[in-house]
Amino acid sequence: MLTWLWQFVKCYKPRLVIAIVALVFTSALTLSLGQGIRLMVDNGFAAESYEGLASALQVTLLIIIGLAVGAYFRFFMVSWIGERVVADIRRQLYARLLTLPPSFFEDNLAGEIQSRVTTDTTLLQTVIGSSFSFALRNTLSFLGGITLMFVSNVKLSLVVLAVVPFIVFPLIIIGRKVKRLSKDSQDKVADVGAWAGESLQHIKVVQAFTRESFVNQQFSNAAEDAFQTALRRIRYRAFLIALVMTMVMGAVTVMLYLGGTDVLAGKLSAGELSAFVFYAIIVAGSLAAVTEVYGEVQRAAGAVERIRELMGTEPTIKNPTTIKQVDFTKAEPLISIDALSFSYPSRPKQKALDAFNLTIQQGERIALVGPSGSGKSTLFDLLLRFRDPQAGTIKIKGTDIRQLGLEALRDFYALVPQQPVLFSTNVLDNIRFGKPDATQKEVEAAAKAAHAHEFVMDLPDGYQSFLGEQGVKLSGGQKQRLAIARAILANPKILLLDEATSALDAQSEHLVQQALDELMKGRTTLIIAHRLATVAHVDRIAVLDHGKLIDVGNHQRLMGTSTLYKRLADLQFKSYEPPESARVSAM
Ligand SMILES: Nc1ncnc2c1ncn2[C@@H]1O[C@H](COP(=O)(O)OP(=O)(O)OP(=O)(O)O)[C@@H](O)[C@H]1O
Ligand SMILES: [Mg+2]
Repeated sequence: MLTWLWQFVKCYKPRLVIAIVALVFTSALTLSLGQGIRLMVDNGFAAESYEGLASALQVTLLIIIGLAVGAYFRFFMVSWIGERVVADIRRQLYARLLTLPPSFFEDNLAGEIQSRVTTDTTLLQTVIGSSFSFALRNTLSFLGGITLMFVSNVKLSLVVLAVVPFIVFPLIIIGRKVKRLSKDSQDKVADVGAWAGESLQHIKVVQAFTRESFVNQQFSNAAEDAFQTALRRIRYRAFLIALVMTMVMGAVTVMLYLGGTDVLAGKLSAGELSAFVFYAIIVAGSLAAVTEVYGEVQRAAGAVERIRELMGTEPTIKNPTTIKQVDFTKAEPLISIDALSFSYPSRPKQKALDAFNLTIQQGERIALVGPSGSGKSTLFDLLLRFRDPQAGTIKIKGTDIRQLGLEALRDFYALVPQQPVLFSTNVLDNIRFGKPDATQKEVEAAAKAAHAHEFVMDLPDGYQSFLGEQGVKLSGGQKQRLAIARAILANPKILLLDEATSALDAQSEHLVQQALDELMKGRTTLIIAHRLATVAHVDRIAVLDHGKLIDVGNHQRLMGTSTLYKRLADLQFKSYEPPESARVSAM
């Protein structure tokens, strides 16, 4: 854990040096307060001298001023390093997350990852920004205190020292246990967060099905579980603290008794005993403090483990070692898909795409149609290299996309996904996501082309209107048109449109269709079409079934050659009649 943290801390060596100097300085001054006390008792009280008392107090006061100055620098520098390092870790962690392929986020809950970026790093911050310094300071006080104890009185020191093993061994054994429990505890808290986030995000479904008490129960269980795990950790720690306290205070009492008899017998001055007691209290106090911090450091070790795990996750889809450029002047087809086969790792036996072939020329508009689950959206994922196929290739102008830079490849495309994605910001920034440096004019032009300008102007704050989380303050058709405006603004070479199945009313379907026409003008387009209105506007239609390409052609031809296409088309044109099989199963 320490070596891992060191790579972050070492960037700030000068500050670290100042912090350590201040730390050593204040520890030394704290210990020298013991001498002030000795002077006060022996030269002041015992000698019954006012001057002795005053000069002893003067020395003490000087020490205290030095202490205050040292403490200022120590606290400032150490906290600075803590905050700085955690900000660095957070940034690095987030940057790493952004490189991971979508499949990673399917297997790991967003809430849990979030908790690593926020909660775990905060835990680290308290440790670097205070606990470490606290521990170091107390370790120094402990060592210094012990030395001074032995210098001033060996017999009494041995009494104090005899207790140490009884404190240290339970500390190590119980500490290990606490570390394991605290990892569990953090995991449980992350579960609670993830569940709360998900259920609140889908509050409409929760309330529509009146499942409030059900999800509430689930949440309570998760929270209770987290509490129970925390409780076990707390029990161990409480026991540890009580044990250490008893041992330490017991030793101090014995020592006071032995020392006191020596003073009464005249073998020891009262001032020497006072200074010794002061050192012993410092030693005991710092040992107790280290125990306290030890638990916290153990918790942080758990956090570090989780952060490291996440930072160490290698993206499965990466840039190639030598990146090729695409030559768009070449005569080859723009996209050629060759014998592409892919199955999702979670379902290795089922081929989402099966020996799929398709060639797309520059400027061509192609519609992909097929039953639900036939692999249309999956094909888009492979084109964008969100996933890599098990067999076959995709080439752009003759170059395998695995030889291109990921960023360059994805820059060729603009994607309008099946579910329009809007961020919780205003209209302007949502459209501008397609081209961050676009001017207001460019954004408005894109919105006009997408037939979105009119409804945007009707919103209370126009382009500055806040859309809520995932655009909850808009209708389905409006969201789609904003997603289209974003793609128009991005002005890509190739357009990937995954048309949403959501039934739009005739009016907004018409508007969305107009927006799409505008978008597709003169641009290579792959559109997953669910509505035949869309299909009428394309050059070729590719029919998919079970991940296979069944047929390619225009509407008229496919009506004659493809029974699957004819069935899909008939279902849309004619009034719905249940098929034979459905009638049978209904009886
Ligand atoms: N992330 C995933 N993990 C595992 N299997 C998946 C995943 N996404 C899709 N599938 C499966 O792969 C197959 C193809 O899915 P795909 O999303 O490509 O269908 P689609 O043709 O886009 O369907 P629709 O018209 O309903 O959008 C389906 O059987 C689906 O269940
Ligand atoms: Mg789909």
